[in-house]
Amino acid sequence: MPNHLAERLRPFSTTIFAAMSELAVATDSLNLGQGFPDIDGPAELAQVAMEAIGAGRNQYPPSQGIPELRAAIAAHQSAWYGIAYSPDDEILVTTGATEAIAAVMLALCEPGDEIVMFEPSYDSYAACAAMAGASVRLVRLHAPDWWFDPAELAAAIGPRTRLILLNTPHNPTGKVFGADELAVIADLCCSHDLLAVTDEVYEHLIFEGTHIPLAGLPGMAERTVSISSGGKTFSFTGWKVGWVTAPAPLLAAVRSVKQFLTYTSGEPFQLAIARGLLFAPEEINRLGLALRAKRDLFCDGLAELGFTVYRPSATYFATTDIGEVAPEMDAVAFCMALPARCGVVAIPSSVFYGAGAGAGAGAGDTLVRWAFCKQDDVLREALSRLAKWRSVS
Ligand SMILES: Cc1ncc(COP(=O)(O)O)c(C=O)c1O
Repeated sequence: MPNHLAERLRPFSTTIFAAMSELAVATDSLNLGQGFPDIDGPAELAQVAMEAIGAGRNQYPPSQGIPELRAAIAAHQSAWYGIAYSPDDEILVTTGATEAIAAVMLALCEPGDEIVMFEPSYDSYAACAAMAGASVRLVRLHAPDWWFDPAELAAAIGPRTRLILLNTPHNPTGKVFGADELAVIADLCCSHDLLAVTDEVYEHLIFEGTHIPLAGLPGMAERTVSISSGGKTFSFTGWKVGWVTAPAPLLAAVRSVKQFLTYTSGEPFQLAIARGLLFAPEEINRLGLALRAKRDLFCDGLAELGFTVYRPSATYFATTDIGEVAPEMDAVAFCMALPARCGVVAIPSSVFYGAGAGAGAGAGDTLVRWAFCKQDDVLREALSRLAKWRSVS
């Protein structure tokens, strides 16, 4: 029998992702559901990992992360954002951002605490909050540009609020939070003495706007725990090399939890990501540039087919409203029907509403998320399949 925690996590488990991936295989569909690129990242980085394995760097590395990677993360934060972190006690390497999110919540929240975050939201946040015994207060982002109401954010903060969780650039909307919005969030954190946790895994996949880390705003360095990952930046999502940067006392707390989750992560991949972080800025931005062209190709195509397209400013993902093209169904029914009808898989955005429990009463009901981090031929083929479906529906 599942225990109490497993029961509580059940509503958050993303069965829809598994169902869609199974459907993709069963129908031999193009899978634009899950966000992973269909081309590997730089061969030079793969070579670093392979050479490290050959050279015998295959035993437990330090639990905090290898010194080469911690130094590279410190250099990256300083060069890109002018924020100084000590590699000794302000940087922790994790098994992807996924572990970082879990360790941060477990380390910083007491049962009964509240976490304020934006909706729609990446699905692991609510699950990790549940693991920590914390509850979630949601503040809605509104299409077309995914704005939020500062008064609603302020009203979501109560006596049990422990932290504000911010994901920028944002999955699933592709929003890059602007300086004014970040100032609102920072002011609230400071005036209510809250912590901020930021998930910045798409920091280098930006097409419009600039990524501004919340930690760099006045008064925020001492209260912000920032999370990122090499998987998205370098197109090696399977390597699962993430990291946390935070002031030493907060980092120490996260580190104590991480030690008993995974203890450490594979050294060859850490070495490879360390090399990548030291690439010149043009090299680091290369994937973002390539993705921008893919975004335009795919979003233009979807718009021509009649979808209402919310063109993302960043990330791998485009959101569409299907109200015009499939008024008779909601996004779940649309996405379940799509593979059999025309061999394309996408994700209904309702999974990102209602804190992942699918209880967001009507929220996101007509929204569909498409991952466009695929080869151009795949995107063109997906559009032509969708066009055939449109012509017969
Ligand atoms: C917003 C966000 N955070 C974290 C992650 C997980 O990152 P990682 O693969 O490094 O665990 C993802 C992956 O899709 C994501 O979209």
